[in-house]
Amino acid sequence: MLDSFLDKVPTGSERLTAYALDFSGTNIRAVRAKLEGNGRITTAEHRINLRDEPAPFTKGLLDKQCGAKELFDSLARSIREVMERSGDLARSKDTPLGFCVSFPCELRSIKSGALLEWTKVNIGNWNFILQGFETGRATADPVEGLDIATLLDMACWRHKFGARVTAVTNDTIAMLLSCAYEKPAHLPPCTVSFMIGVGLNGAYVEPDAKSYKYQGTIINTEIGGFDKGLPVTDVDLEVDFADEGGNGRQIFEKMIAGGYLGEVCRRLVVKLWQSEAPALAWSRQALPTAVAALCVSDLTDNLDMIERLLRGLWEWQTTLSERRTIQKMFILVFDRSAGLAAAAIAALARKSGRLQPAMGGVTVALDSSLHISHRWYSENVRLHHVRDLNRIQVRNYLNQLLGEQTASFVNLYVCNDGTCKGAAILAAITA
Ligand code: BGC
Repeated sequence: MLDSFLDKVPTGSERLTAYALDFSGTNIRAVRAKLEGNGRITTAEHRINLRDEPAPFTKGLLDKQCGAKELFDSLARSIREVMERSGDLARSKDTPLGFCVSFPCELRSIKSGALLEWTKVNIGNWNFILQGFETGRATADPVEGLDIATLLDMACWRHKFGARVTAVTNDTIAMLLSCAYEKPAHLPPCTVSFMIGVGLNGAYVEPDAKSYKYQGTIINTEIGGFDKGLPVTDVDLEVDFADEGGNGRQIFEKMIAGGYLGEVCRRLVVKLWQSEAPALAWSRQALPTAVAALCVSDLTDNLDMIERLLRGLWEWQTTLSERRTIQKMFILVFDRSAGLAAAAIAALARKSGRLQPAMGGVTVALDSSLHISHRWYSENVRLHHVRDLNRIQVRNYLNQLLGEQTASFVNLYVCNDGTCKGAAILAAITA
């Protein structure tokens, strides 16, 4: 549970321009956001992919042999670029900058915070590249344990422009702020946010923050690391055990989030088929979560999509009965993820103290790239029953956990682009 040092949420009426850097993985976004009041924000942005930045190490800038300086130089260059394009570079002295990160940071004030540790160290992507960060771990120039605001300020200074970090925040907190700013007025206050993307986390406004000795009222729970007493299976233990550099931590996240579900599914296949499993299925991260989700969503009579995907991916000729088993297993994995996510959302909503008629309920900002905007749920592919499975599934589980009447006070508000904007809002409201 980490303090945000922030005790107000925006109202939507703030008017200001601010810059922000969204460091949510390898896709970096530097943004200039103009808050126009009435919940309106316009943005200009520059994106880079850290994988494309030159660095002479196996994992590039993400490699444990790469120092913090190289990584933060790339981040600073992306801010400089958007400032230059927006015509603000010449007068950039002391430009407030919001810095949003998708890793746990222990803040010392709103504008400084130490990155506790890299999470999501061994996650895969479509190309099976393990793309998690380990930057600095094997060097004398680490990121973990250091103040990331200072690292970024120094990099801006090296690149000769005057942006200064005025606010450091976690992605879930940024999303909460962005939802609070933009949500329609008829919805109750947004005091909870929940993210189920590559990683997992939630934030909420704690009514008793002062008695817990927090400086702010918005708390970054780092709920992905709530690992005690979880109903883990042997497969979960294997996934964790194989997570070199990250094992023993974030077990809850590994049972729910997109960085891991494909791996859970793959291990189930290998476990069930054993020596009959195709050779290509044996390597770590050989099943991207996106492919597993497509298998779940195959509604054809003969499960043709699964047939094509597994033939293409693992050169595996499956029988219909095998494909049925695969689909059933994968559905269980995604369904469990929805159930556990709902449990976490219910807990946060309850803690926010707003689940009573007199309080008017709570709006939960939800970035669920895994559960909602994924093709598995998308209207385009007309996968109604499967889409509903999980949309309703998170809802169903909320109903089960809270009771239908109480669950009706929870308004899920999908907020898929909140992190950048939220960091800019934070920079603006704290400037
Ligand atoms: C990190 C959190 C982050 C979440 C979602 C987790 O791995 O520990 O800080 O909010 O991923 O990106």
